[in-house]
Amino acid sequence: MSIIDTVKQAATGMMVKLTPDAPPDPLIARKHGALGTSVPRIDGPRKVRGKAQFAAEVPAENMTYAALLYSTVARGRITALDTAATEAVPGVVFVMTHRNAPRLKPPALFQTDPRAAGASSLPVMQDAEIHWNGEPVAIVLAETQEQADHAKSLITVAYQAEPARLSFAEAATQSHQPPNVMGEPAMIQVGDAEAALAGAAFKVDLTFRTPRHSHAAIEPHAATVWWDGDQLVVHDTTQMLHQERWTLAGIFGIPEESIRILSPFVGGGFGGKGLWSHQILAVAASKLSGRPVRVALSREGVFRIAGGRTTTEQRVALGAKADGTLAALIHTGIVAMTEHNNCPEQFTFPARHLYAADAMLLEQRVAEMDMLANTFMRAPGESIGTFALETAMDELAEAMGIDPIELRRRLEPEKDPTSGHAFSSRNILEAYAKGAERFGWDKRSPVPRSRREGEWLVGMGVATATYPYYRMPGAAARVTLTRDGHARVAMASHEMGMGTATVQAQAGADRLGLPVENVTFEYGDTLLPAGTIAGGSSQTASIAAAVTAASAKLVADLLKRAGNDSPLAGLSADDVEARDGGLGHRDGGDRFESYASILGRAGLEEVSAEAEAPPPMEVMSYSMHSYGAQFCEARVNAVTGEVRVSRFLGSFDTGRILNPRNATSQFRGGIIMGLGLALMEETEFDERSGRVMNPSLAEYHVPVHLDVPEIDVIWTDIPDPHAPLGAHGIGEIGITGVGAAVANAIYSATGKRVRDLPITLDKLL
Ligand code: MOS
Repeated sequence: MSIIDTVKQAATGMMVKLTPDAPPDPLIARKHGALGTSVPRIDGPRKVRGKAQFAAEVPAENMTYAALLYSTVARGRITALDTAATEAVPGVVFVMTHRNAPRLKPPALFQTDPRAAGASSLPVMQDAEIHWNGEPVAIVLAETQEQADHAKSLITVAYQAEPARLSFAEAATQSHQPPNVMGEPAMIQVGDAEAALAGAAFKVDLTFRTPRHSHAAIEPHAATVWWDGDQLVVHDTTQMLHQERWTLAGIFGIPEESIRILSPFVGGGFGGKGLWSHQILAVAASKLSGRPVRVALSREGVFRIAGGRTTTEQRVALGAKADGTLAALIHTGIVAMTEHNNCPEQFTFPARHLYAADAMLLEQRVAEMDMLANTFMRAPGESIGTFALETAMDELAEAMGIDPIELRRRLEPEKDPTSGHAFSSRNILEAYAKGAERFGWDKRSPVPRSRREGEWLVGMGVATATYPYYRMPGAAARVTLTRDGHARVAMASHEMGMGTATVQAQAGADRLGLPVENVTFEYGDTLLPAGTIAGGSSQTASIAAAVTAASAKLVADLLKRAGNDSPLAGLSADDVEARDGGLGHRDGGDRFESYASILGRAGLEEVSAEAEAPPPMEVMSYSMHSYGAQFCEARVNAVTGEVRVSRFLGSFDTGRILNPRNATSQFRGGIIMGLGLALMEETEFDERSGRVMNPSLAEYHVPVHLDVPEIDVIWTDIPDPHAPLGAHGIGEIGITGVGAAVANAIYSATGKRVRDLPITLDKLL
């Protein structure tokens, strides 16, 4: 089930009818408060002191440590498996293979049900079949990690290899349209785009290739699990707590209530911290051995069994009329995927919402391969889709002899070009204008290879960033007020380092009229009200909407308790606002009573309310997206082809900025990941064996400090009136457009177009 279907379903089940023109969140207009200020990260001190306990650090008595053995063929059957030598190793507690694994249901696949978390629907260790090179074939538990790792190396496995689909080019000849792409049609056609392209005054028709990427979060995947009778406890690093709980319950055939998952700290999650085979194997092995299990994947393990971004081949063809508007916009392509996962890499999504064009052809196709399931990775689709689309825009501007920013101005649509909806908030041209001024875009020469400083060729490039606004349905929050003027806001949500706990404490403080120091945000535990995934840059809005609902319920309850002796007597919830540690009349007059007084008179130490957010009708009614303009200055060594990004500026339009310090960090992090996408990241997939050949950070390159220049970040800070708090999530927009901004700067420096990521020096010589 898609996000949109889920929204529709949630909406039909609701008693309240929500109009899309519900009044904007009153907090948007509030000038004084915690929101909009750079409150330092609440989790920061614990992290820098080493006091934050991550999943692989949770202690347990009688702990065992797990090592996984990975298959070495891409497809086939295990014909022989000898674990005798392993079992004889001192310290080995238990060895599990498909022969003695418990019978498990296959994981429910993410997005087939809003409650599902499975990154793949393949059964885990249930028979001798092998589905990808790297699939776990054994799990060894021992008293120490070293014993487990050594013992694992003594297992011998023989395979009967079978023909596997390992060539992307070959698989692409059998490609098909997926039934949908994230709930949207796989193909959108407006008019006859090919004919319009043929007749266009200016045109480009280009092919782009993007490689596989692997997740390289600083914290590799890990879980510490144990059974307490029929109760299962999982300390995990996850961005989907309740979904993981529901999915594990289904796999093991136990009630959801008997599982508790805790995930207070996540050392980086970019879409990859979902439910993979290692948690399932650890839970099963713990059940059979009767011992707690810690499974901490090695870096190699992450490359073998936790998927990342898949490879694509994309075509972008643009045809412009003499006046510079678009006659044709074509963005089509093929991605590699398995038949067991659900991430078709929505690379055509930016083209669906960015530009006005008379005719459009946008189509996604899928080629099935025998490989590790691919999954979400920071702006899946949008990151690599904008690489193709925004490089093509640069090429079109050049063909037309106009500035690339001027081209964007001419193509600015009045309403969403494919949905026809009004934009909720779109200030993309302002972002361009502010960015161009700050970056000194006027100093860019339109002639490529025209600036040289010694050995270095210098160029500037620009590209559009864009990412959708999402809010997930079904999230509930609990708000608790105590008599001493403190509040706890609680939801089973996720802090992966992006500042969730801090920003939600700020939002809770303003919502309740309390100082931010008095508000605690509780998260990361399935015992809390069922929350939302940290995905699709949606978590901030999803939490805020639920907290708004719970706070409204709390205010109504407080008014009732305040009764007739209160200065608030006779006022309805609509008449009052939370301020200065209590409730007061909206007119700002002196009808006010503090929480301490209300609770004191009622004889209560604390009062709490829990509520679910209304369904996200705003996404059904408006075209809601974030935007940005990415500016890059690149230097290319004329002798060696080495690329150095020397300056970068991201100018964003993402609604209201809730915490400037956090936001700067999120935008910069996205841009840095974009530099990796542009210049270095590539998972080497050997098409003969299906093996990932560079499963380490020595060979899989990500940007290091010396690769990253000072990154300047600015924003419009214009609230979106249709979003809770006026804000859009900003976790993913930063990476979008970066690949193209870098590629366009490299072209400006060298006169060479590289349409095949990453742009390594061999491609520039
Ligand atoms: Mo993100 S790719 O939705 O964690």
